[in-house]
Amino acid sequence: MKSKQTSFLEIIKDVRSLPTIPGIIMEILSSIEDDKASFKEVSDLIAMDQTLTTRVLRLANSPFYSLKNNISTVSQAMLILGSNAIKGLVLSTFVFEMMKKDAMGLWEHALGAATAANIIARELQVPKPEEISTAALLHDIGKVIIRARLKEDYEGLLLRAEEKDMYMREAEMALLDTDHAEIGAWAGKVWNLPDELVEPIACHHDLARSETHQMKTAVVHLADVLIKASGFGFSGDPFVPPIQDAAYDILELDANRLERLIEAIETKLIEVKAFSNAIQ
Ligand SMILES: [Fe+2]
Ligand SMILES: [Fe+2]
Repeated sequence: MKSKQTSFLEIIKDVRSLPTIPGIIMEILSSIEDDKASFKEVSDLIAMDQTLTTRVLRLANSPFYSLKNNISTVSQAMLILGSNAIKGLVLSTFVFEMMKKDAMGLWEHALGAATAANIIARELQVPKPEEISTAALLHDIGKVIIRARLKEDYEGLLLRAEEKDMYMREAEMALLDTDHAEIGAWAGKVWNLPDELVEPIACHHDLARSETHQMKTAVVHLADVLIKASGFGFSGDPFVPPIQDAAYDILELDANRLERLIEAIETKLIEVKAFSNAIQ
C-alpha cells in the first residue's frame, strides 16, 4: 500500500495536475525563448488579448517596480522591463487571479517581496532589478500550486505549521516529502520560465543550493525575510526566519545597510497596500 506521503507527492508532481494556464499565456511563455522571438511578435500576441494587456500594464505600473515614467503600451513594457520580467508578469496575472479568490494574504506577501527585492537590488546596485522583482513576485508560486491541489488539506498544513511552531516548508516536507520551493521551480520549468526566475524560486530558502544566479537568489531570500518581518501580507509562516549567512556574504550586508533597506521598504509599503486594495 502506498503511503499518504507518496501519493500526495505523485498527485502534486503530475504535470496534468498543474493549474490550467490559459492558452494565450502558455503561448506567450513559450514564445519568448532567449529573446529569439521579436519584441513585436510577443507584444502583438499580448496586445491581442485586451484583458491580459490591461493586467500586464497594471502590474508593470505597480509600485513594486518604482519606475519613473508610466508605461502605457505592451511594447514599452517589454523594452523597459525586459523579456524575462515580462514572462514572469504574464504568469503573475494568472497567479493573481488564482490567489484573489481566497489567498490575498499570500498575494500581498508576494507583492511585498517584489517591492522589497526591487529596493534591495537598486540600493545594492544589483543588475536587472525588474527581473529580480518579478522573481520575488513569483517566489512562493509553489504554495499556490500546493494550495490549488490540496484544497482543504492546505488549511491543515497552515494549522500544523502554527500548532507545531514550524515553518511552512517544514510542514510541507513532513506531509509531502517536498516543499513549495521545489514544486514552484518544477512548475516554472514546465511553464518555460527562464532560469533567472526559476533559480531564485528554487533556492530562496537555501542559498547554498544556488549556483548560477546567486545574487538574484540572495536578493529574493532577503526580500522574503524582510517582508515577513514587516508583517505585510501572510506567507503562512508563524514566525520570521533568520537571514542566511550566505546572504550577508553575497550582498555584503552590514547593520547600517540593512537598517537603510528596512526603512526604505517600510515607507514604500504604504503605496503597495493602496495598490493591492485598488486591484482587489
Ligand atoms: Fe517561500
Ligand atoms: Fe515567501
